Amino acid sequence: MLVSPSLLSADFGNLDRDIEMCNNSDAAMLHCDVMDGVFVPNISFGFPVIKAVARVARKPLDVHLMIVNPQNYIGAVRDCGAEIMNVHQEACVHLDRTIQAIKAAGMKAAVTLNPSTPVVMLEDVIDQLDMVLLMSVNPGFGGQKFIPNTFNKIKRLRQLITDSGSKALIEVDGGVNLDNAAALAAAGADVLVAGSAVFSAPDPSGVIAAMAAIKS
Ligand code: DX5
Ligand code: ZN
Repeated sequence: MLVSPSLLSADFGNLDRDIEMCNNSDAAMLHCDVMDGVFVPNISFGFPVIKAVARVARKPLDVHLMIVNPQNYIGAVRDCGAEIMNVHQEACVHLDRTIQAIKAAGMKAAVTLNPSTPVVMLEDVIDQLDMVLLMSVNPGFGGQKFIPNTFNKIKRLRQLITDSGSKALIEVDGGVNLDNAAALAAAGADVLVAGSAVFSAPDPSGVIAAMAAIKS
């Protein structure tokens, strides 16, 4: 299982320390949540902070943009050193164009779906995607309760990926912890984002190692 710890739950006063913990852990990537107070009812951090994270991080950055008009920031995300740019389907009127522009900028393209958005919305772009992020909470805050319908969505998405021959990975974000990680892997998830489950734990790198050890 690939694990992407979400820095939203890290200690922003000790970011270097928390990123270094991730560097020395079994994390596959680092999840950076950008919120604009418009697309979601909260504001987190922006590009100057991600650039600072990139200077310390030795894992690829998985940037999740919970913002309106994400297509206006493709160059800014690339300049932060991001490997994966995640845009919400609900925020993109011209999703196909935005996916093409992300790839032309040299990044991997991922599209995120809110809990209420059906998987079928990606039917006509799935073959172009490197990853699909299924929100398992309504985006905007860390530490929320996992929405069980996510299991049905993972299965439907796995079917869509298989039918289309897409190589997209399935990432799940929100309320992921050691109690549901194995079931998510069994349902077909490839990448687990975990914020509070990692950073609120007494042994954060132990939680990352335990999740990473789950067979997908
Ligand atoms: C929520 C963010 C998540 C958040 C997850 O809107 O997209 O990445 O950090 O936090 P937990 O794992 O605590 O639910
Ligand atoms: Zn996220």
